[in-house]
Amino acid sequence: MRTLIRNGTVVNSTGTVAADVLVDGETIVAVTAPGVFTEADRIVDASGKYVLPGGIDAHTHMEMPFGGTVSADSFETGTKAAAWGGTTTIVDFAVQQKGTLLQSTLDKWHEKADGNCAIDYGFHMIVSDVNDTTLKEMDACVEAGVNSFKMFMAYPGALYSTDGEILRAMRKATESGSTIMMHAENGIAIDELVAVALAEGRTEPVQHGITRPPELEGEATHRAIQLAKVTGAPLYIVHLSARHALEAVAEARDAGQNVFAETCPQYLYLSIEDLAKPEFEGAKYVASPPLRPKDHQADLWKGLRTNDLSVVSTDHCPFCFKDQKELGRDDFSKIPNGMPGVEHRMDLLHQGVVAGELTLARWVEVSSTTPARMFGMYPRKGVIAPGSDADIVVYDPAAKQTLSAETHHMNVDYSAYEGMEITGRVSTVLSRGEIVVDGGEFHGRAGHGRFLRRDLCQYLS
Ligand code: URP
Ligand code: ZN
Ligand code: ZN
Ligand code: ZN
Repeated sequence: MRTLIRNGTVVNSTGTVAADVLVDGETIVAVTAPGVFTEADRIVDASGKYVLPGGIDAHTHMEMPFGGTVSADSFETGTKAAAWGGTTTIVDFAVQQKGTLLQSTLDKWHEKADGNCAIDYGFHMIVSDVNDTTLKEMDACVEAGVNSFKMFMAYPGALYSTDGEILRAMRKATESGSTIMMHAENGIAIDELVAVALAEGRTEPVQHGITRPPELEGEATHRAIQLAKVTGAPLYIVHLSARHALEAVAEARDAGQNVFAETCPQYLYLSIEDLAKPEFEGAKYVASPPLRPKDHQADLWKGLRTNDLSVVSTDHCPFCFKDQKELGRDDFSKIPNGMPGVEHRMDLLHQGVVAGELTLARWVEVSSTTPARMFGMYPRKGVIAPGSDADIVVYDPAAKQTLSAETHHMNVDYSAYEGMEITGRVSTVLSRGEIVVDGGEFHGRAGHGRFLRRDLCQYLS
């Protein structure tokens, strides 16, 4: 099956060009001047539209157990929603529970995902139990194509690791060339602030933000960077939300250290004012790190331009308002942490292009090309070029849409962006040459998506 996408503007991280794209089977075989090829089995007219490499969301949590419940999107519903929004690859987090093996964790995640994904997928591994066995198993994970390991400086008693444990895992990462990803918030100090708030009867959702101040993200980020420096490990800070943390990352990068960071759309568009919404509505916006005061947003956009922030992922971790967020009605610390977003990342970031915050090329770079490079999938993913997988988004920059739980495809009963008006919309999505979305209809299928055994990070070689 040959597909010709013609008359569009191809947008890569290197720039834009008027070009046609020829796909044969699962692969892009030619990017040519318009009109060079005229025949194919299927022709997609991209006049007036952008032709982008499919989005890569390097931070999702499908079917993740958290706080006594499980995130609401399965690998099937979550990857379908991702495809609707122009994301053709996710990297999801397998979660080691204390006292269990990395291998059994990986097996469990394969069981959940294999045969159920509509788009390609890979895994990171969350390491929560650092011991001699785990450290050895990290090498086996790298062999299995899972070569990025998330650790937590937050959530004492659950996923938390001590500085010593982090140091040990970092040494192992240095040895194997793998990447340590860090949830950088000072969880010990936060737990103390949470205890005081609850003792004083401050139980409403906004307290989630008040008890996790940006200083404690800045401090943990700085500490993680120092631990990485001592061990020589590459470090990737996940879901960076605060100016304080960004300053620490920028300083390390200026000094030439292998430190990278991602932010998420919720930190670019939403704020602690959303967490303060009355009638428990703020619970919809509880995620960690928390939404910050609005004045952090300009710094994050600037960080995206200066490349101190290299990636935008969603941290998609949906919990329904009615039956899941409700668990913390009388105690904010029991609200499951996480927000939905996998469907809207490309659209939300396109608003940054519309507003002049990002160039078209940078939009593609932070949402596709850099995640592909960072997590060992480039040039198979992340670029429109001959030889690359035909993961392609045809994007209509002039279309208008309004985000709403009524129309989204994520398996969650609210939208964090309800009523937000968006300029731009996905019109066609191909995943390895197969059309999965076209003209407002879904043509994909669960089971089309393949597991990606990822190579090591290309920024570090
Ligand atoms: O609140 C969040 N971010 N939930 C997902 C788990 C994590 O820490 O990334
Ligand atoms: Zn996290
Ligand atoms: Zn996360
Ligand atoms: Zn539900």
